[in-house]
Amino acid sequence: MISPIHFIQDRCTDCGLCEADCPALAISISEAHISSDCIACGHCVAICPHAAMQFNGDEPHALPTQSVKADDFEALAKNVRSVRNFTDKDVSLEDIRHIVDMLAQCPSASNNRNVEITVVTDKNKIRDIERITSDTLYSFFKTLTRPIIKAVLSLFIAKKEVKKLDYYAQNFRIKRTRNKEFITYNAPAIILFHAPKLPIQSSSADAHIWATYTSLYAKTRGLGACFNGFIEQAAKRNKHIHSVCEINSTHEILCVLLLGHPAVKYTHEVSREKPKCTFV
Ligand SMILES: Cc1cc2nc3c(=O)[nH]c(=O)nc-3n(C[C@H](O)[C@H](O)[C@H](O)COP(=O)(O)O)c2cc1C
Ligand code: SF4
Ligand code: SF4
Repeated sequence: MISPIHFIQDRCTDCGLCEADCPALAISISEAHISSDCIACGHCVAICPHAAMQFNGDEPHALPTQSVKADDFEALAKNVRSVRNFTDKDVSLEDIRHIVDMLAQCPSASNNRNVEITVVTDKNKIRDIERITSDTLYSFFKTLTRPIIKAVLSLFIAKKEVKKLDYYAQNFRIKRTRNKEFITYNAPAIILFHAPKLPIQSSSADAHIWATYTSLYAKTRGLGACFNGFIEQAAKRNKHIHSVCEINSTHEILCVLLLGHPAVKYTHEVSREKPKCTFV
C-alpha cells in the first residue's frame, strides 16, 4: 500500500526508534524512505519523540495520561455483565460517536480495519430483526433435529453433541413461546459489526475484538451491552437481516451487540472457574 506516513527529515535525530519498532520493516531512515510494505499501523508516529512522523499529514498529539490501574481494570471486568433488561431511554448520538471514535484505536489483523459498524435504533427495524431471527432459527432448529439429519450428524460429531441439539432446539422453542422479545430484549440500539466477505481475512476476530472493547467501554458510559449470537447466526442463513439493516449483501455480519441503559443493577461478583492455564 502507499504509506500514509509523511517523514519530516528536519525533525529527525536519527535515533532509530521507529525503524526498530516498525512491524513491516518499511522504514529506512538513512534513505529517508518508507516502503509500500507499510501497513499504516502508526507505530512510527507513536514512538517518535520528535514528531518527525505524521499520519496523513496530521501533527501528532501527545498521548493522554493512562490512569487505569490494574485494580481498576479488574473491577471493570467484574462489573461488566451481559445486560438483557433495558430502560426506555435511547442511546444518545454522543455515546455512539464516542464508541466509534474509541473503535478507531482497537487492534485489527494486519491493520486491515475493514470492519464496518451499523447502528440500528429504529424500533420497527429492531422488531423486524427480532421476528426474522426468531423465524429463521426456529426453522433451522426444526431441520437440524429431524431424525434423518441427526443420524447423519452422528457420523461426524459425538452423540453427546447431537443430543445437545435437542436441548437447544427445545430451549429455543420454549423461549419463543414465552417471550416476544427473547432475542433483542427491547434493546434501544443494536450494533452490527460487518465486513466484506473475502477468501482470506481475519475480520471475524477483529469484529469480536471491537465488540468486546465496546461492551467494556459501554459500562464506563453507564450503558449495558449483550453479545447476540442469535442475530449473527440468523444473518448467515437469511439475507433479510441485511436488507432491514441496510447492510450491503456482500458483507458478512460477524458480531452483534445489543446496547442500552440497564434496567438491572448487579451487586455481587460471579464466582467463576478460572480458565485452564498451562505453563510449558
Ligand atoms: C459470542 C457471544 C454470543 C452471545 N450470544 C448471546 C445471545 O444470542 N443471547 C444472549 O442472551 N446472550 C448471548 N451471549 C451472552 C452470554 O450468554 C454471556 O456472556 C454468558 O452467559 C456470561 O454472562 P455475563 O456476560 O453476564 O458474564 C453471547 C456471548 C458471546 C461472547
Ligand atoms: S505506519 Fe507502521 S508499518 Fe508503516 S512505516 Fe510506520 S511503523 Fe512501519
Ligand atoms: S523515531 Fe523519529 S527521530 Fe528517531 S529515527 Fe525515527 S523519525 Fe527519526
